[in-house]
Amino acid sequence: MKNLDGRVVIVTGGSGGIGIVASELMANRGAHVVLAELDGERAQTEAQRLLSQGLKATAIQTDVADKKSVEAMVQKVTGQLGRIDGLVNNAAMFSRVPMSRVGSLEITEAEWDKMMEINVKGVWNVCSSVVPVMKTQSYGKIVNISSGTALKGSPSRIHYVTSKAAVIGYTKSLAMEIGEHNIYVNCIAPGSTLAEEDPTPEIIAVREKAVASRCIKRIQTPEDLAGPITFFIGPDSDFITGQTLVVDGGSCLH
Ligand SMILES: NC(=O)c1ccc[n+]([C@@H]2O[C@H](COP(=O)([O-])OP(=O)(O)OC[C@H]3O[C@@H](n4cnc5c(N)ncnc54)[C@H](O)[C@@H]3O)[C@@H](O)[C@H]2O)c1
Repeated sequence: MKNLDGRVVIVTGGSGGIGIVASELMANRGAHVVLAELDGERAQTEAQRLLSQGLKATAIQTDVADKKSVEAMVQKVTGQLGRIDGLVNNAAMFSRVPMSRVGSLEITEAEWDKMMEINVKGVWNVCSSVVPVMKTQSYGKIVNISSGTALKGSPSRIHYVTSKAAVIGYTKSLAMEIGEHNIYVNCIAPGSTLAEEDPTPEIIAVREKAVASRCIKRIQTPEDLAGPITFFIGPDSDFITGQTLVVDGGSCLH
C-alpha cells in the first residue's frame, strides 16, 4: 500500500523511539519523511538508513523549543521539497531528553519551564510555521502526540502530565480554527511504551507494570503507534478531526 506517495511529512523528534518507527512506516507507504530532531547526528544516521532501503528521508537538526530553529527547518523543507502535507508533533522531553519521574514538590522550576518549552510551546512553534504552508495548499494533516497519563493522571511527573493535557486542548482548538482550510488536527495518547534504546531493568519493570491494567496483556511497543499515526496522516482518516485516540491496549477506556 503506497497511499502516502508524493506526500511530505515532518516528524519532530523523528529519530526517537516512537518517531523513527512511525517515520519508517510512512516512508514505506511512499512519504518523504523529514526527521526534525534535536539530536542531528542520530537523525542523520536514521535518514541514511532509510535512504539505503530506497526510501525518501531527510534529516534536519531542529530544536522545537526555538522558534528560529523551527522556522529555518520549515524553510528548508519548503525550499527543497516544495510542500508539507503532514506533521507529527512527536518531540518531547521524555526519555532521550530525560525528565525526572518525581512528585510535584520535587520538580525544580527550571525543569517545569523546560517541560513546557519543549512539550507545549514546541507544538505551537512548529504548527505556527507549518500551518501557513498547509493553508496555501488547502490541505494538511497534523498529529499531536499526547499521553494516556493526561486522561488517567499519574502519581509522579505532574509537569509531564500537565504538558500532555495541554496538547489535547490545543488539538481541539486548532482543529476548530483551521478545519475550513481542509487541515485536520488529531491527537494520539499512547500508553506506557517500551521505546527506549537500551532500557534499564527499572524501565522494563515500569513497562511491565502497565500490562496489568490493560485488556490486551502485553508490553506496548513503538510499532503499536506507527499504524495509528500513519492512519491520521493518510487519506483513510479524511473525515476525522479534533479527536484524541487512546492507543494503550485498552487501559484507559476513553
Ligand atoms: N514511550 C512512552 O511510554 C510514551 C507514552 C506516552 C506518550 N509518549 C510520547 O510519545 C512521544 C515519543 O516518545 P518516545 O518514547 O519515542 O520518547 P523519545 O525520548 O525516544 O523520543 C522523543 C524524541 O524527541 C526528541 N526531542 C526532545 N526534545 C526536542 C526538541 N527540543 N526539539 C526536537 N526534538 C526533540 C528527542 O531527541 C527524541 O528523539 C513523546 O511525545 C512522548 O511524550 C511516550
